[in-house]
Amino acid sequence: MTPSDTTPHAARYPAGSLAFPHRDLLGIGHLERHEILFLLDEAEQWVDLNRQSAKHSDALAGLTIINAFFENSTRTLLSFEIAGKRLGADVVNMHAATSSVKKGETLIDTAITLNAMRADAIVIRHGSSGATGLIADKVDCPVLNAGDGQHEHPTQALLDALALRHALRERGQQADDFTGQIIVICGDILHSRVARSNLLCLQALGATVRLCAPPALMPAGIEAMGAEVFHDFDAALQGADVIMMLRLQTERMSGQFIPSAREYHHLYGLTKTRLAQASDQTLVMHPGPMNRGVEIDSEVADMIDRSIITQQVEMGVAIRMACLDVLTRRARQVEGWGDAA
Ligand code: NCD
Repeated sequence: MTPSDTTPHAARYPAGSLAFPHRDLLGIGHLERHEILFLLDEAEQWVDLNRQSAKHSDALAGLTIINAFFENSTRTLLSFEIAGKRLGADVVNMHAATSSVKKGETLIDTAITLNAMRADAIVIRHGSSGATGLIADKVDCPVLNAGDGQHEHPTQALLDALALRHALRERGQQADDFTGQIIVICGDILHSRVARSNLLCLQALGATVRLCAPPALMPAGIEAMGAEVFHDFDAALQGADVIMMLRLQTERMSGQFIPSAREYHHLYGLTKTRLAQASDQTLVMHPGPMNRGVEIDSEVADMIDRSIITQQVEMGVAIRMACLDVLTRRARQVEGWGDAA
């Protein structure tokens, strides 16, 4: 399905649950292009609401959402919490550090416990790839993956796409997708679920994706996913429309992957001089948390006309509202959503 840019929202997608026939949001890899566009379009109403002083909807009133975070988080946890609350749901956060996980409870038992409390949606971040899928198999409600190990972080890729779409529209580009855009993702690709989800999402939306990292931080065989692979950052930057920088995920590294932070910055850090090599329009993105002076210089991160890092955070709330709203439509018995898979 290829809706044109002027088609009204209701007419662009199949009706009801056919527009998004999934119970869970486990990864971008499970989604079709039109399903990604549907979530982005659904988020627009929440972008508008979030820019008002009264930011409340009753869409999810009476529903209970559990955010179960087994890994640290600032942006993702807070924005899921804010998203649920702005939609009128009761939101409960479970931090693994203070839960019975510390007493040896298995992931499956934790999932069964959360299920018994009759949550209407469970948002999970976990250090193991595939953990969110495992929990989804054990519970009766929608599960949203808020980052599982090195595997996927779908709402991050969706919020990045929404932030980029807004930034491109502000520059007069009306296209719905990213056809013709060259997007460089640079950093610790090997350990990054953000890189994987973004690669899938940006390609589905028509972009050319270049991945850039030192050889030790580039997954073997990633070319098979359609990415252009670079080890020379300066070469990757030629003609780039967007540069997405990633942190070195030292907490996932066993052993020495880079000689030193100083040398890494020299070869792979985004400096003002390096940014100038791309073009005078190139946009800068970063999912956060940033390590200023390592993968990105402050003067680039804070460039008002080029960096859209704070817009990414803003779009994170709207995207998570859209995902919670769409995935709970069946539980809320919204007409046409009863037959979702
Ligand atoms: C990312 C994550 O947790 O995967 N952060 C985020 O969700 N904003 C990236 C990172 O930790 O580097």
